[in-house]
Amino acid sequence: MGLRATPIPAKDAARLAAVHQRCFAQSWSDAEFASLMQNPTVQGLGLVEDDRDIGLALLQNVASETEILTFGIIPARRGNGMGYFLLDAVADMARASGSSALFLEVSATNLAAVHLYQGYGFEQISTRAAYYADRSDAWIFRLAL
Ligand SMILES: CC(C)(COP(=O)(O)OP(=O)(O)OC[C@H]1O[C@@H](n2cnc3c(N)ncnc32)[C@H](O)[C@@H]1OP(=O)(O)O)[C@@H](O)C(=O)NCCC(=O)NCCS
Repeated sequence: MGLRATPIPAKDAARLAAVHQRCFAQSWSDAEFASLMQNPTVQGLGLVEDDRDIGLALLQNVASETEILTFGIIPARRGNGMGYFLLDAVADMARASGSSALFLEVSATNLAAVHLYQGYGFEQISTRAAYYADRSDAWIFRLAL
């Protein structure tokens, strides 16, 4: 019971895909998750509350840095500090993989995510103008571990 972040193995990719579908309007399929997670540099992390999946993160270790490929909390559990809790687990997992930094890209218009990452201590290191389909800018964030 309670709240815990737990590694999710590639064989359970569909479990993360199901959470992703609840978090994003345009989500990735079970097959896309399975394909990504077959890559040995990719690690899955689930956030579980009272045996229910409420969040996910997918990480990729590149050299000595870890990229957050996707990250989300289901709508019903947002605004309760779950994002911060899951980021702590992401940082722990990245450190355990030997990473010295986390990075990610996020739309400048995604206010909740920008607030979360800035609140956690990420710094914006660059911008990709009009990067997304809706022409919004991508902001690249980095956090030294
Ligand atoms: C981004 C997301 C993970 C945040 O999760 P969360 O559990 O609601 O985050 P937390 O409750 O830990 O809140 C983190 C901070 O963001 C703030 N925040 C949350 N929602 C917000 C919103 N809609 N607008 C502005 N700030 C917001 C919180 O107030 C908190 O700020 P604080 O440090 O001042 O207390 C969640 O909204 C989500 O899954 N969104 C859809 C998927 C997504 O966009 N993922 C990121 C892609 S890179």
